[in-house]
Amino acid sequence: MTSKLYKSVKVAHISDLHFGWFSGISEDKIHACRKSIIEFDPDVVVATGDIGFFGGDWEFKKARKFFDSLPFEKLVVPGNHDVLDGFMIPKINPFRKLRSFHRNLPYRDEITLGRLHIVGLDSTTFFALGRGHVDIDEFDRFSEDKNMIKCIAMHHHVIAIPGTGEFNMLSNVDKVIGELIKHNIQYVFHGHRHKRMHFRLDSFVWDKCLNNPVDIFTCGTTLAGRKRGGDPYNNYNRVIINTQTNHNSFSCVNMIYQPKLKQFVPRDSGFKI
Ligand SMILES: [Fe+2]
Repeated sequence: MTSKLYKSVKVAHISDLHFGWFSGISEDKIHACRKSIIEFDPDVVVATGDIGFFGGDWEFKKARKFFDSLPFEKLVVPGNHDVLDGFMIPKINPFRKLRSFHRNLPYRDEITLGRLHIVGLDSTTFFALGRGHVDIDEFDRFSEDKNMIKCIAMHHHVIAIPGTGEFNMLSNVDKVIGELIKHNIQYVFHGHRHKRMHFRLDSFVWDKCLNNPVDIFTCGTTLAGRKRGGDPYNNYNRVIINTQTNHNSFSCVNMIYQPKLKQFVPRDSGFKI
């Protein structure tokens, strides 16, 4: 935990970088992304998975170069592509899961910035690569301190993302919703479907009653060529969370890459709650 007093916490939320041979990353895009994040000057860079494409060492080494060029705290969680361990089928086994990922990307999986506590969850599983699964015991990492504002960063979507061709959700989504309620989690950052959206869960989710709203930020692919859901842009989120109130209070601006300008620019005026 840092002792700095925070009135607000700035999060640069990037996702689905897909460092690899075939994923459409260019040096121009990497350079523009680095420059844009440095301009934002975040308290933490949160990367919500799919850092590689085949999950091999050579991809994560490239990713590490990128992360190390960002002079900020980094919280990085794995995605379904990151478990492939170089796409060597015999290496896909639960006992070696994410070996290359952890060997090459030694960043935080949890951070406390003033009152804000962000916990990174590993939502990957060999048995539901596309859907994901969260080990419910992982929620015990949140403290009981009611004064803390709690956030999750993970790869898979809690609620299905419209227009991305897949409507399934975490294989244990109802238990995860239960944990969001139990721990009063207010914010979720995720990626996976390569489409930027914002959802606010409020009042009821199915038969469960929320104590507080849960704001869910999804991020598109920040660097890779494969965009989905009708969104033509590479993008990332600049989120500023107000930590002076217990209510959900934040601003979010989605930054999109413009190839002709070779820079990231605000998608629109953003939104503020
Ligand atoms: Fe993914």
